Amino acid sequence: SMPVIAVDGPAAAGKGTLAKSLAEAFSLPYLDTGLLYRAVGRRMLDAGLDPATASGEELAMALSPDDLKRTDLRTPDATRAASLVARDQAVRQALVHIQRSFAAERGGVLDGRDIGTVIFPDADVKLYITASPRTRAERRYTQTGGSETGPDRETDISKVETALIERDKADATRAAAPLRMADDAVKIETDTLTAEQVLTEAIRIVKS
Ligand code: CDP
Repeated sequence: SMPVIAVDGPAAAGKGTLAKSLAEAFSLPYLDTGLLYRAVGRRMLDAGLDPATASGEELAMALSPDDLKRTDLRTPDATRAASLVARDQAVRQALVHIQRSFAAERGGVLDGRDIGTVIFPDADVKLYITASPRTRAERRYTQTGGSETGPDRETDISKVETALIERDKADATRAAAPLRMADDAVKIETDTLTAEQVLTEAIRIVKS
């Protein structure tokens, strides 16, 4: 059968960029699993539910492909909501089937937090993409339209970094599927690598 490639790691480490390019390089379908949690969080906000206290299980079970196409899944409130719904074991369970069936027929590249540990423990290749909080904050700052120069740049990057460190902590310490590297994953530290260099390294690992 076609290969499954798991790409896990903390926020803004470059998983999405890599996973998309890898999928293209090997002609595999690509799924950004963070979008599933974002879509559930967004649905909860729409329904006036507090993702910190209410369960999103039913909304997770009713998720449709259109939910993943919404353009408001990367706003700060959707990001916070996603991080909160991701703590809910019932939500995670409801999303397992979607993720497994996505790659069932033609394989796939999936990026997330628990692909190699929970969703596909038998994935053909497991990559763990990481970088220092400072590097990730700079990348997220640029991604979200932050300016190249200016007096507020340093302060703004520091704020992004603080938020990332907080979310890393929430991801790593939650009871349900905490973020950790699978024992058989290959780690790529991307601080000093360009996106192209990360891709080259990942292709080498997939082919090895
Ligand atoms: O790249 P970034 O962390 O900003 O966002 P994301 O990958 O879209 O993930 C959004 C949130 O969903 C994260 O805070 C994770 O806690 C959660 N998530 C998860 O728990 N499991 C996954 N497989 C993917 C995302």
